[in-house]
Amino acid sequence: MKLSFIGSGYVGLTTGACFASLGHHIICQDIDEQKIRKLKKGECTIFEPGLEDLLKNGLASGNIEFTTNIKRTIRESEIIFICVNTPPKEDGHADLRFVERVARDIARYLDEYKIIVDKSTVPIRTAEKVKETIERYSDKKVNFDVVSNPEFLREGNAIFDILNPDRVVIGAENERSKNTMLRLYKTIIKDKKIPIKITSVKSAELIKHGANTFLAAKISFANLIAEVCENAQADASEVLEAIGLDERIGTQFLRPGIGFGGSCFPKDIKAFKKTLEVFGVNHSFIDAIESINNRASERFIKKIEKMLWVLDGKSICVLGLAFKPNTDDIRNAPALKVIKYLKDNGAKIRVHDPVAMPKVKNIFSDILYFENPYEAISGSEALIMCTEWDEYKKLDMKKLFALMVTPIIFDGRNLFNRNEAKKLGFKYHGVGKQ
Ligand code: UDX
Repeated sequence: MKLSFIGSGYVGLTTGACFASLGHHIICQDIDEQKIRKLKKGECTIFEPGLEDLLKNGLASGNIEFTTNIKRTIRESEIIFICVNTPPKEDGHADLRFVERVARDIARYLDEYKIIVDKSTVPIRTAEKVKETIERYSDKKVNFDVVSNPEFLREGNAIFDILNPDRVVIGAENERSKNTMLRLYKTIIKDKKIPIKITSVKSAELIKHGANTFLAAKISFANLIAEVCENAQADASEVLEAIGLDERIGTQFLRPGIGFGGSCFPKDIKAFKKTLEVFGVNHSFIDAIESINNRASERFIKKIEKMLWVLDGKSICVLGLAFKPNTDDIRNAPALKVIKYLKDNGAKIRVHDPVAMPKVKNIFSDILYFENPYEAISGSEALIMCTEWDEYKKLDMKKLFALMVTPIIFDGRNLFNRNEAKKLGFKYHGVGKQ
């Protein structure tokens, strides 16, 4: 099928590359000329395991092309996916100006029946507005349908998630658009047992915000348990593992830590709060999720300060800067909050992250960056673990102990084995445990 993706960011680029790998013809469009130039050469503009290979193969087979030309993108495809960003406004509402601009472009160039798909995370009723906008700005009477098809990919796992989704959600208002979308998704599903939920457009729009709010709530619940465990001297890992074994609850997304970050959860729950406001629904549930999440990093920082007493002049190593492993994304990364506080209080910060350091260099120019975690740890008076990269799980604890001036670990992700660390002589502080 001929598909186009307007907006070659995280969602557009990864989804386009996956559909190209299945034999569809893909046009990925973006207004950023520099980005398109790089993509045309097969250079990845984001860090995502497996993506570069898909791009190279897609370019070699001719299944994927990149352009800034919006007219061609619209004219030469059966299905147009809107994948532009929907950043939060000051007040938390999703800023839909880019979506609106795409709708106006579509109005201008639409010359025959097409399906327009909202793929970006947008508030309920966006599809309705997109439809109205296209109708308002179009001078021809061309038939089209707007479909909502939310994307649930996780950064760092995007390729796998797109090709093996837990479910596919298609919000469509008529048979024609529904059947075309089903035909497309059958090429992903093949003989796998993946449920497809066909819903109204509005329900589909709500599913994405609902799912992300629920996941964020699970994490905040875990962090609430961690908080009480720290005060009552119980062990949050033991408590949460046992809670999660109830099949109705499930063990996933119950890991306490220093709070969720990234581009999705913080933004989506804020936008969902605004949706609740618009529809006259009380949002204290979301306020609680946010406040527990903020407390998670604040508690961690307080713990560090309490144990180290004076931060001024102390050499402190922070391992992991990205908001989670397997990504270089540092948006709302709790590590940055931790570093800022320690730095502002006079600590000398030494950091390592396998891929996110170049991005952090644009934010903090006065901290020390190391290409090797052992070098970052060397001579430090505390080790702070902020992102659970696999390579940190393999660190030689004996070597760490020998390299540190005072062997204290603040493990924000409960990555190390507490008993092993204590046996080696470390002072160990995990989350939700002593
Ligand atoms: C999320 C959703 O998972 C995805 O479905 C949606 O499309 C976009 O938002 P992503 O932002 O890539 O994806 O990250 P995810 O892997 O979900 O992790 C989010 C945050 O939660 C990370 O900061 C992670 O460290 C944290 N987290 C996750 C916890 O603190 N504890 C957990 O148990 C799980």
